[in-house]
Formats: sequence, C-alpha cells, structure tokens
Amino acid sequence: MQTLDRHTLTAMLEWQIELGATEAIGDAPVDRYTLAASAPKPNAKPLSEPKSAPAPMALAEDPVAIAKDMAAQAETLEALRAQMGAFEHCELKKGARNLVFSDGRAGARVMIIGEAPGRDEDREGRPFVGRAGQLLDRMLAAADMSRDRDVYITNVLPWRPPQNRDPKPEEIGMLKPFLERHVALAAPDILVLMGNISCQAVLGKRGITRLRGNWVEALGKPVLPMFHPAYLLRNPAAKRDAWADLLELKVRVTT
Ligand code: URA
Repeated sequence: MQTLDRHTLTAMLEWQIELGATEAIGDAPVDRYTLAASAPKPNAKPLSEPKSAPAPMALAEDPVAIAKDMAAQAETLEALRAQMGAFEHCELKKGARNLVFSDGRAGARVMIIGEAPGRDEDREGRPFVGRAGQLLDRMLAAADMSRDRDVYITNVLPWRPPQNRDPKPEEIGMLKPFLERHVALAAPDILVLMGNISCQAVLGKRGITRLRGNWVEALGKPVLPMFHPAYLLRNPAAKRDAWADLLELKVRVTT
C-alpha cells in the first residue's frame, strides 16, 4: 500500500473540509436516527466555521463499545436476552419481528452457533425452526441426540437480515460482544459452528469446506465447524461429511 507523508495527508484533509466534509467517518457505523434529533435546522447558523477540523466521532456513539458494555452487564442468560432486546444500534432490529435468542437446553454440553434467523425463526422467535432446523433435528436424532436434552442453540445474529441476505461484517462485529457473552454464560464444553458466517464470527475466517470436521480452539473452547443444514438441503451429497462430523461430535461428547 502507498504511504503518504504528513503534509500530503494534511492537504488532502483540508481539501475534504473545503468541499464541505464535517464528519470523520469511523470504523463503526453511526446511528443516524438518534443523531437526527440533535441536527441543526436547515437555516440555522453553522456551529463552526467551514475551515475548522472535523470533530472525532464521540466514543458514546461507538455501537461496538456500547454492545460490549451492555453484554458485560448481563450476569444471566435472561439478563443477556434483555440487554440484547434493549440494544438500539443495529438496523436489523428495525426490520425484524422478534429477537431470536436461543433454544434447546441451557447448560447442555454442546452449544450450536448458526448464522441468522430466517423467516420462520423471525416469526416464532426461536432459532432453527424452519426447514434447515428440521433437518438439524433429524441429524441430531440420527446421532441419538435431541435439541431439548443435548444441545443449546443460538445464532451469530439475533435479528433476521432483510431478504435473508448474508450478514454484513459490521453487523457481525457489532453483535459479537453479545455472542461472546452468550457463550460465557451458557458455558458449554464444546462449540459447533454451522456454516461460514459462524466461522467468520468466531474464528475470523471462512472456507467451511476446508474447516469442517477439524477441531480448533476459540473462545476458550474446543470448536467443531460443520456444514450448515441449509447447505445440506441444497447439496445432499455433503450429508456424508456432515454425518462423519456428527459422529466425531458424539464421540467427543460421550468421552
Ligand atoms: N439458519 C440459521 O443459521 N439459523 C437459524 O436460526 C435458521 C436458519
């Protein structure tokens, strides 16, 4: 990457200000709905002269810092659910019907982390209740495991993305403090990551075809990446690998 000297950078910044830029854009998104209330009226005198330096984004507006703070305050799973319900900095919440927090048995040795709610999950407020969820239940049953007894289930995102689009990296990053706290409070012995989005969120990498079936360590736990059941619905030939991974999980849980 090209590096620029201080004078060039200052000149470029001044040029931006000359053009009317009044904000420094940070790495984290800004909730413009809350800012709108305090915005100056169109005919109001500008607060600062056009030449003044842009104000740095206030720390109080950093949604990741806010999520971290709110997550840290939760001492129980119910408290965490309440904190997530009170988090107003993710646009996905505005388009979702329900917060999808978890299902299964809190305290189970295995915690499954999926991607995000779809239409059925959004409607019911529970993860993995649609077609992919039904396949997950059948897979667990085939390994003599059940949702209500042997696993605790959540998603990377608690709100449905519009049109089931992939979660954006900034959405994953913003909500990750809640996921981390969720894992800490549920305290499973083993994490199962279903699909690329979960691998992205927890391991920081994608490539489920390579990652699946190989134990790694993350968030202080042994982690097993697996194909997502929705992928298996589209690619039935991959069920053979998923079955091998499930047996691997079963052996680990019972030993
Ligand atoms: N896919 C997921 O990853 N999670 C759900 O809850 C439903 C479908």
